[in-house]
Amino acid sequence: REFGRFGPLIGAVDEGTSNVKFLVFAANTSEVLTYHQITLKRFSPQEGWVEQDALEILNAVLECIEVTTDNLRKLDINPEDVVGIGITNQRETTIVWNSVTGQPLYSAIVWLDVRTANIVDELTRVKSPQCVNAVTQTSGLPLSTYFSSVKLKWLLQNVPAVKDAVRAGECMAGTVDSWLIWNLTGGCHGGAHITDVTNASRTQLMSLRSLQWDKGLLRFFDIPVQILPKIKSSAEIYGYISTGSLLGVPIAGCLGDQQAALVGQGCMRFGQVKCTFGTGCFLLYNTGDSIIHSQQGLLSTVAYKLGPDAPPVYALEGSVAIAGDTLQWLRDGLELITDIQDTEALASEVNDDDEGSICFVPAFNGLYSPYWRKDARGIICGISDKTRREHIVRAALESVCHQTRSVATAMATDCAPLGRLLADGGMAQNTLLMQMQADILGIPVIRPLMMESTALGAAIVAGRALRVWPISTPCPPADTFIPTISSEERDIKRVRWEKALKRCLAWTT
Ligand code: G3P
Repeated sequence: REFGRFGPLIGAVDEGTSNVKFLVFAANTSEVLTYHQITLKRFSPQEGWVEQDALEILNAVLECIEVTTDNLRKLDINPEDVVGIGITNQRETTIVWNSVTGQPLYSAIVWLDVRTANIVDELTRVKSPQCVNAVTQTSGLPLSTYFSSVKLKWLLQNVPAVKDAVRAGECMAGTVDSWLIWNLTGGCHGGAHITDVTNASRTQLMSLRSLQWDKGLLRFFDIPVQILPKIKSSAEIYGYISTGSLLGVPIAGCLGDQQAALVGQGCMRFGQVKCTFGTGCFLLYNTGDSIIHSQQGLLSTVAYKLGPDAPPVYALEGSVAIAGDTLQWLRDGLELITDIQDTEALASEVNDDDEGSICFVPAFNGLYSPYWRKDARGIICGISDKTRREHIVRAALESVCHQTRSVATAMATDCAPLGRLLADGGMAQNTLLMQMQADILGIPVIRPLMMESTALGAAIVAGRALRVWPISTPCPPADTFIPTISSEERDIKRVRWEKALKRCLAWTT
């Protein structure tokens, strides 16, 4: 069919922990034509609990789609040129809902939530070490509060409405992608209950080899398979949008947000690595067709599967729970800053070797890769009467870089040292952070000018499924940050950080 001046367009829903966005890309050029973004609320009804409202997430997605298509009309672009959409989402966050009423049966339990710490302890205690080891071998993931398995177990054990719905055969469960796809394709009037392999690989219920729900894992966590979605590839038509301005448009791609950023950054070959600086911070190392089991506390995960008949590609992942969230805490918790954008200027006013400089480990809810210590708690060390808020802001930025370095070191031991790091995500806009990261890693950090790599990845997979996205795209323009400090200076900074880290790990002992 005839298209307008930008050719066929692909939309991307990017449902992150902090924001929902809908962007429209021109398939021929990867250019973003317009977008809309809404900030999401988070609730913490008890210490360590992190919840979101599943309906708020859905409504934000619907609103973003409507505002964006309206923007297209204002730009004199026909929304009918949108030939498909892709979905990318915060992973592990778990939602259960009633298939007849369409209503959520509980709040979305967010990946950061640690209410399941007792379940993890109990499983570790009552199951044999061989059994626990088999869980990691099959799923690629250690026992942790992070994954959907234990969140779903908690919901099944503790929420009467969930128990009732399971008994009545009306319970549906899934990660945020499943919730959105089911609702967008018709909900209780025939919505598709599906997930893609990358999201399924974060539930800890899928076998990395068979790419199906694994009987042993389901038994281990005691999860009834009938409440789970069907697992599909990351690039195929799952169904058609049943409402609003994009009525009838196919949903043709789905990836967890970190895997989407890997695709968006073009890391499609073995050994290519990206790091997304968002609410958390996640490094993914493309390991091609090999599932590499880390000896260093990294996760094995599915990177993507570009079609029902395409082979899966795997990745090693280092997950850092708290990155951008540190700055949100400085703003909303400590009320030390009013705007996250100010952190770059504030941190530039001081130096790490100032008398007032400090070291900050933001282990608010424990530490993920490579430590996997749910008992660790945050620490700020070295405060003196010379310490000013600028030092705290600088240390918060530095904490992200040091955590990234811990993961990069683990990757070097498991695979090979990183030659460079491709960066993206909201926090990557902070140019000082990018320079600090290059200094602390001792390798170049490369930041594309178009930083919406996550949304781009979702658009690429959908565009490929619909055969409208070019197979090879030229390397996008980028900024490169070269290390500016000596290895001695780098080591001094690292020793300070490791001292603080030791204290943070020893907090509860
Ligand atoms: O695993 C959690 C991750 O998918 C969340 O990503 O971008 O919201 O920090 P983000």
